[in-house]
Amino acid sequence: MSTSREHFSSKIGFILAAAGSAVGIGNLVGFPVAATKNGGGAFLIIYALFVAFICLPVMLAEMGLGRRAQHSPYKAYAELGQDTKRWRIAGWLATITPFMIAVFYMVITVWIFGYLFQTLSGNLDIIAQPDYFGKFVNDYSFVGYLVAVTVIINFILVGGVRKGIERASKILMPTLFLMLVLLVIFVLTLDNAMAGVEFYLVPDFSKIDGSVINGALAQAFFSLSLGMGILITYGSYFRRSDDIVTSGKLVAITDTAVAFTAGLMTLPAIFAIYPDTNPESLSDSSVSMIFSFFPQIFMQLSDIVGYGFATVAASIFFLLAFVAAITSLVSIIEVPTSSFMERHNVSRKKALLAMGFAITLLTLLAATSFGLLPWVSNVAHYAGVDKSLFDVIVDVFYDTILPLNGLLICLFVRFRWKRKNFAAELSEGNPNYQTSWLHKYVDFSIGTFIPVILAVIFANTVATKFFGTSFL
Ligand code: PHE
Repeated sequence: MSTSREHFSSKIGFILAAAGSAVGIGNLVGFPVAATKNGGGAFLIIYALFVAFICLPVMLAEMGLGRRAQHSPYKAYAELGQDTKRWRIAGWLATITPFMIAVFYMVITVWIFGYLFQTLSGNLDIIAQPDYFGKFVNDYSFVGYLVAVTVIINFILVGGVRKGIERASKILMPTLFLMLVLLVIFVLTLDNAMAGVEFYLVPDFSKIDGSVINGALAQAFFSLSLGMGILITYGSYFRRSDDIVTSGKLVAITDTAVAFTAGLMTLPAIFAIYPDTNPESLSDSSVSMIFSFFPQIFMQLSDIVGYGFATVAASIFFLLAFVAAITSLVSIIEVPTSSFMERHNVSRKKALLAMGFAITLLTLLAATSFGLLPWVSNVAHYAGVDKSLFDVIVDVFYDTILPLNGLLICLFVRFRWKRKNFAAELSEGNPNYQTSWLHKYVDFSIGTFIPVILAVIFANTVATKFFGTSFL
């Protein structure tokens, strides 16, 4: 075990950092809208069950593997997998996936930064114009915003685990909670807000079908940052005396609580401004919600509270989204960075320079997917649709490979690491674990039905995304 490996200084440091990773753009808009469209409270119940019964065991497996190995994913799988080719592939996948997801997430974060900048400059009326987003994504001002976001991320990551990631999370996460609560209170005071709350909370079980269930699990998986190598890496920054089990539970609860609370902001805001909205007509795409729909909502809001106040509310919203996105990006870029440090035995600065350069370059390329470069905008064709580079990255890495990585870690625990060693690892820092119900449940589920469910989701996603058919 490397003695120079950095560690989080405290449990709360880890929890805030991991929650910072988990709480992202998906929590603020994607989750609330998915819930409202797919059965309200019924979706919320299913989602919560998935978090507790499927995601938590996978989360503990990732954290446990990381702490056991004290390495980032590639080396962790290689070492504990006793250097077999099969497990090296799992480690490689857990390294390339965050790299590629970082690229697509970076594009969205840079856009958010651009919108924040415009709002703060008093240009809410401009970004609320219906054709603004289309023009914005094809404008070279992107490069300036990209440079600013890259500088901020590098500024945090260069500080390392304690002085960078942990310190930033300790400042940014409480700020995020505060901004969210402020917006919720403000939105709930608007007329008609309660109609939104109703759509969000009242259960409608008739909406639940195979594809809603698949979507809920995929959303929970993504939201908890599973399958991206992040929790393996953060787990490796855990000390042996730290309590993985309680920390994992708290991260899952925090992430779910933030997603739930965000629904009390997003839906009431929509219904306060557009009382006749049909929930089914809301866009599935968080991107179009954030960049097209929300600016219009804030602009309409200025009729009620005045332009100045609407600008303040919009600025807080984009700042909230930006903070949520930055803390997620920090965690995801840390994975390839720490792997690079380990593999090439170089300093954090050098690894960051290499990774930062590679990710920025690919981000620039992916950002031309919307018309700037015709061949990037139309790089592939499958399931009857033309796809841009951005679409391909989302389809392959975000939608498809995540459940596959989840499946692989379950198989790894069951067939290679062995469940008794996994349980022994979780007991360190939590001596009562071996006698708990949770242990019995995790032990059974991770080796039986969780991998089966993840395999079905993986197969269904491949069928839907690449062949245009679905069996769920
Ligand atoms: N959990 C994040 C979200 O909900 C997803 C994510 C995590 C994306 C880490 C990138 C990096 O948005």
